[in-house]
Amino acid sequence: MSKPFGRIAPERTTPLEWAAALDAHPRIRAVEMEYGPEGNLSRIHVVPHEDTSGLGTIVEDFAVDSWRAVFEDCYDPAGSDDELEDARYRGWRDGITGLPVPAADMAEWADVTVERIARRAPRRILEIGAGFGLLMEPLVRRLRPASYTATDFSQHAVARLRELAGPLTAQSPDTEITVAEGDALARPPGDGYDMVVINSVVQYFPSVLYLEAVLRRVLPLVQPGGHVYLGDLRHPRLLGAMTALGHRRAAPGAARETLAARVARDLRLDGELAVDPGHLHQLPRCFPKVTEVESAPRRGAAPTEMTLYRYDAVLHVGCAKPDGGPEWADGGELTLERAVAAFASPSAVAFRGIPNARLTDGLRAWRDWGTSQADAGGAEAHGAGTCGTALDPELLCTLAEQAGRRPGLRWTPEGDDGRFDLWCPEEDGTRQPSCTEAPAPGDDAPPARQPVYPPGTEARRREEIRSAVAALLAPGDEPPEVVFVSWLPGAR
Ligand SMILES: C[S@@+](CC[C@H](N)C(=O)[O-])C[C@H]1O[C@@H](n2cnc3c(N)ncnc32)[C@H](O)[C@@H]1O
Repeated sequence: MSKPFGRIAPERTTPLEWAAALDAHPRIRAVEMEYGPEGNLSRIHVVPHEDTSGLGTIVEDFAVDSWRAVFEDCYDPAGSDDELEDARYRGWRDGITGLPVPAADMAEWADVTVERIARRAPRRILEIGAGFGLLMEPLVRRLRPASYTATDFSQHAVARLRELAGPLTAQSPDTEITVAEGDALARPPGDGYDMVVINSVVQYFPSVLYLEAVLRRVLPLVQPGGHVYLGDLRHPRLLGAMTALGHRRAAPGAARETLAARVARDLRLDGELAVDPGHLHQLPRCFPKVTEVESAPRRGAAPTEMTLYRYDAVLHVGCAKPDGGPEWADGGELTLERAVAAFASPSAVAFRGIPNARLTDGLRAWRDWGTSQADAGGAEAHGAGTCGTALDPELLCTLAEQAGRRPGLRWTPEGDDGRFDLWCPEEDGTRQPSCTEAPAPGDDAPPARQPVYPPGTEARRREEIRSAVAALLAPGDEPPEVVFVSWLPGAR
């Protein structure tokens, strides 16, 4: 971290000098230049430096302990529920409004989650970070599994889970319910779990490395054909749009500079982990037991942070590969009428890159008040403000279901503006096609390692690197796009 960064006078920069200068930057581990058809420097791929000082784990322990204290406080029975419609939903706040999520929206959120998990008909379930049992209760009632093991690192949560376990066992006597303190991962009875649920928990993990460490402990406990459900994940490429939307709604008349500063401050101070779906799609390279990764935006009619900006991922453990991928049609110009007509035919439907109407307002706010044009690129690409073809994923799925189809959703792998892909298998098709191809930066990338340290560290590091690139530009130069990746071929 002590390499001096030798700045090159803009008038003398050649591609080689650019590479040498960036390579010497203390925040950069590796760079790769990409040139356009006319030999112009169009894109720079940057692998930022990781912290190798050992401070990482100390900070991680500190972060985990801090979150434990936050949850103990939040779940404390002596705490006040004054502003809550339903005490089970303590602590659930919407990142757009900053207000408690309305009870009806929470109920829909829980139903959607339970539906996604129940679809796999699991018999032996482990839930890590089970909280107040919002999923345990309906899953046990509905599935009556052979066993349900719930763990949480909060003692108040564990006490609440134990309270719930009594009546649940009475209603479902064939289900063995175990409540464990901490993140205790007891070896399950029999051949292993067939479902591990980690729902709305990963954002409190201090880094992707910590998530990988959890998976390293969990995966040996999962029997072949089982799944790991990582639910309610934050999408890092959509955080800017969400933050900008919140500020625009809170203070529509405020000056642009004031709002831009507030958005930038919130992003800098953001202390919850966001995991790129692309990182998860690379997990099979790190964990051979993971045979497939699905990721999908959340369903639900209520326009909350969760339905707009979050997603779920399912890791398939030792499962048979689904059928080959569908033949995608361009979804950029899809209209509702065309979609309805496609759903009415019995053939397979697969539209790729559909602009997401649910995100238009947020992307527009991000474009207007984002901290930099480079970061607001997603909004531009989406055509925020002018788009006539953006469609609502929930509406499309509902229409597909009304036509008797089984729709699948995912974020478009290479999109950074929340575009989505939608597909329905042939009407008589028994299996869903595979829609899990790895997103950019490419097939040969190993699992992403993206440590996250105290709030804003990552954002500051990226900003420094962007400034270093900007400093190399000659007057009038078109700035190249800076793409942050976790690995480059041949990188040290
Ligand atoms: C937002 S709540 C989600 C609860 C539950 N999974 C649900 O979906 O209703 C997050 C829960 O994760 C727990 N948690 C957070 N970080 C954790 C960690 N590192 N290990 C175990 N539990 C954790 C918290 O105590 C809290 O109960």
